[in-house]
Amino acid sequence: MIQVEGLTKYYLGDQPAISNLSFYADRGEIVGFLGPNGAGKTTTMRILTGYMPASAGKAIVAGYDVMRQSIEVRQRVGYLPETVPLYKDITVWQYLDYMAGLHGMTNPDRTDRVEEVLDQVDMLDRADSLVANISKGMRQRVGLAQAIVHNPDVLILDEPMVGLDPDQRREVRELIQNLGEARTVMLSSHDLAEVEKVCTRVLVINRGRIVAEDSPEALANNMQGMQRFYVRVDNDAAGKLKELVMSVEGVAEAKVDDRKGGLEVIATRDSNARPAVAALIVSNNLDLLELRPLDMSLEDIFLQLTAEAEAELADEDEWDDLDDDEFDDLAEDLDEDEETK
Ligand SMILES: Nc1ncnc2c1ncn2[C@@H]1O[C@H](COP(=O)(O)OP(=O)(O)OP(=O)(O)O)[C@@H](O)[C@H]1O
Ligand SMILES: [Mg+2]
Repeated sequence: MIQVEGLTKYYLGDQPAISNLSFYADRGEIVGFLGPNGAGKTTTMRILTGYMPASAGKAIVAGYDVMRQSIEVRQRVGYLPETVPLYKDITVWQYLDYMAGLHGMTNPDRTDRVEEVLDQVDMLDRADSLVANISKGMRQRVGLAQAIVHNPDVLILDEPMVGLDPDQRREVRELIQNLGEARTVMLSSHDLAEVEKVCTRVLVINRGRIVAEDSPEALANNMQGMQRFYVRVDNDAAGKLKELVMSVEGVAEAKVDDRKGGLEVIATRDSNARPAVAALIVSNNLDLLELRPLDMSLEDIFLQLTAEAEAELADEDEWDDLDDDEFDDLAEDLDEDEETK
């Protein structure tokens, strides 16, 4: 239902906003597109809905090519853009009636359908309010209503939960789940907890690349499997703290915190990295000043996943560059490593 291969978009300059994205989403799936600011979520969604051309790659949505058949795509896709363009001097009803008209719907079906979707997003009692006078959360719900008014096969929702209070979030979540049963839904979010509640599969995107793809449960477990802590020593004139810390089993990353020269360390949770770091510092005659746990921020998690994905890419490149003899040697070494474990 959504099939994407090698999708790439350059705006200005030589840094792509998205780079070589490939993924799919089937009917009955609610796929979450999870990533921090600037990751490329909106860019991807605008391409998938036929509103913007890609620089390279291919996307088939609801059976049509988004580049060459964008009219057909738009007829079959419901799109909730990041900022919903609402015409402020008309009523909620008039707006939806107008959007239904744009999709070629005529009366009497059109009136029935507008009433139905307004009911679905729980906005029937505000049908006669001016769009200019409704709250942000309500505007978001009207945006959802226009996305589903033509009963599309595929729904692409750019941050559908933004601006909603917890009750409304729950309602919209249920609505998306109902809609998703017989359709293909893709929604973007910054919030793993939110995505976990509604999605069947999650794509994590950072800096224009997909860095992880998993079930929400597996992803949450994986992310919770990391710990972050801060370590600072007094007399590290030789600057060897980072190297020492990186040598500890389970440590994935150590970055210098500029203000005081301490290190922020990310390690697997089940490793004994924290006591091991302490022991190593002491045995190297450094004065341990601070060693305390830090919360894992979503940003850290995205960076961590990105680093893992990049390391994998680099590994693949390394294998690709080898000639046959080197390949055999390396494969032998790896086999020996396996045996000695
Ligand atoms: N119209 C544009 N012209 C130039 N650069 C753009 C344009 N739109 C987005 N970008 C850049 O492309 C990258 C991806 O942006 P995009 O809006 O797709 O990210 P996003 O994941 O939707 O972020 P957010 O969570 O903040 O909505 C960013 O670096 C952004 O600055
Ligand atoms: Mg966006």
